Amino acid sequence: MVQQTRMIKDAALAKRHDLKAFAGMYFKHDYQNYLGSITPDFKDRKAGTIINNTRGLVGLETGGGLKSILTLRQNAWDRRTFGFRVASVADICGTETATIAALLAHIVRMAKKQGIKLLTVRISDNNKDLLSLLQGHGFKVVDTLNILIATPNMPALKGTQSVRGIVFTAAQRLSSGDVSKTAAFARDAFVTGRIYNDTRMTERLKTRFYKRLVESHLNNPQTCKVIAKHKGVPVGVICCERDRALSQGPGLKFGYLNIIAVHPKYQDKKVAHSLFKVFFKHYADDFNILEVGTQTNNYPALNFYRKMGLKFVSSLVTLHLWP
Ligand SMILES: CC(C)(COP(=O)(O)OP(=O)(O)OC[C@H]1O[C@@H](n2cnc3c(N)ncnc32)[C@H](O)[C@@H]1OP(=O)(O)O)[C@@H](O)C(=O)NCCC(=O)NCCS
Repeated sequence: MVQQTRMIKDAALAKRHDLKAFAGMYFKHDYQNYLGSITPDFKDRKAGTIINNTRGLVGLETGGGLKSILTLRQNAWDRRTFGFRVASVADICGTETATIAALLAHIVRMAKKQGIKLLTVRISDNNKDLLSLLQGHGFKVVDTLNILIATPNMPALKGTQSVRGIVFTAAQRLSSGDVSKTAAFARDAFVTGRIYNDTRMTERLKTRFYKRLVESHLNNPQTCKVIAKHKGVPVGVICCERDRALSQGPGLKFGYLNIIAVHPKYQDKKVAHSLFKVFFKHYADDFNILEVGTQTNNYPALNFYRKMGLKFVSSLVTLHLWP
């Protein structure tokens, strides 16, 4: 008997199948599995995010049974920044390599039809099968990130220490002058980033992307910042964002470090060390665990994190495809 194979989209997929149970397969490789021990219902909540937002969801069904799913979502922010369409592939779930391969081929065709110029995907480094599958479909690795976690209990944060002449202030809103002065050096935090590593990107687009990225984090009143100033001029910043969905678990106040940067003239004087310290002290009610991602070739940052006592938990690989 020939089994019928078909692609199904969006809400129809959610109607026909128990996506929550199916998505469970994905978490075998989820890089945030390290949070599992803190919130037992963490996986459930992650599966919930797929089901509650079925936009861009595509699935492959064979003989009535669901074989694999993924999402293809256009990124409006990237489109405005680059001036062309960008989409990301995410939530790749499924056990059979052949059906995931068929889905990938399908969405690459879909992307071409929709005029998408760049496709991005970020996966766990230990999912080697998926990595080679993506490479087989023309995706190229542009970035490898180490994921580390910082907590207020890191021994390096114990004791008091001040940096002479530098004033540290916590704030959620920064003046436009402080944002532009801070962004001018904070952009350097991304020189090892994926957009810089993509040879198809022009210098103009690389600069534009990270300038906008840094400014949008710094201008966002939801992000929590500490700014370091010398004689009233910004010389360092830390900026983090709370993940409210993942912070619902008991005792978990979880967030992401978006930016940490110190002006080159002020580096190696413990400014970043103090930024962390003031941050955890001031935002004690909001954060007790911070996820930090840094490229495997950002040696100064990795060395700094090692000295601070951050723990390595996982690595992620980012791939780009220009369909
Ligand atoms: C990473 C960075 C924030 C560190 O800031 P900093 O104020 O210079 O760091 P501190 O002075 O507080 O350093 C604390 C420890 O880290 C180490 N460290 C800091 N910069 C280092 C460097 N360039 N190379 C090697 N080790 C370094 C120091 O040795 C120090 O430990 P020690 O006092 O025991 O010797 C800074 O280098 C920076 O702004 N880099 C560019 C932006 C960036 O890459 N951000 C991270 C993105 S994930």
